[in-house]
Amino acid sequence: MSLSIPTPHINAKAGDFAKTVLMPGDPLRAKYIAETYLDDLKQVNSVRNVLGFTGNYKGTPVSVMASGMGMPSISIYSYELFEGYGVENIIRVGTAGGLNKDLNIGDVVVGMGACTNSAIIKESGFKGFAPIADYELLNTLCEIAKKRGVKFSVGNLFSTDIFYGDPNFAEKWSSVGVLAVEMEAAALYLNAAKLGKKALAICTVSDNLVTGEASTAEQRQTSFNEMMILALETAKKL
Ligand code: HPA
Repeated sequence: MSLSIPTPHINAKAGDFAKTVLMPGDPLRAKYIAETYLDDLKQVNSVRNVLGFTGNYKGTPVSVMASGMGMPSISIYSYELFEGYGVENIIRVGTAGGLNKDLNIGDVVVGMGACTNSAIIKESGFKGFAPIADYELLNTLCEIAKKRGVKFSVGNLFSTDIFYGDPNFAEKWSSVGVLAVEMEAAALYLNAAKLGKKALAICTVSDNLVTGEASTAEQRQTSFNEMMILALETAKKL
């Protein structure tokens, strides 16, 4: 590991993180996941209120820490987890805007790849690199989803730097089969590839940019819980 700890943005000690870290965007979501699903809980990060926790899920150590919003943020945290704390697997558990008219609110989208308008690929020296998920994580999660009877779609995400952007965005990218837009996957996949680690982004659809459907808070919570179980059951198998 090339980064000494504590890192600039994580004040945990050596060994505080499990080998698999689940990353929602929101720190309070990280707290909710930890308190709802993990036993023997320990808070391991508090820098900038980016809350991080480690506990046991059915006997398997798992950590959960927020990524913040956007590629610069997840890029910092995933780098420090991989390089400072020896984390092997990061599973982003987020929300995304549906770009396919058949995606309903609450559906689970698994990001096999992530297109991006971010300069993060080119400025890292890898112009043209295609960010992809780790196949083992992807396959493990999909098998679990099938067994549990959870509806899911696997395909391309679009990781954008611009939340309030071009009104023609949805039509354009859905025309080449991109399933959903979010703001983190491409940078996470790039870091994992650069560092020889594993990453996967799964998202529940919080709104559909093509149909205009939007979610209620209750829908968001229910589908989020389903996605969390998929991520945690995946972590248990790694
Ligand atoms: N754009 C970007 N990220 C998102 C969106 C969106 O419309 N919905 C949920 N995450």
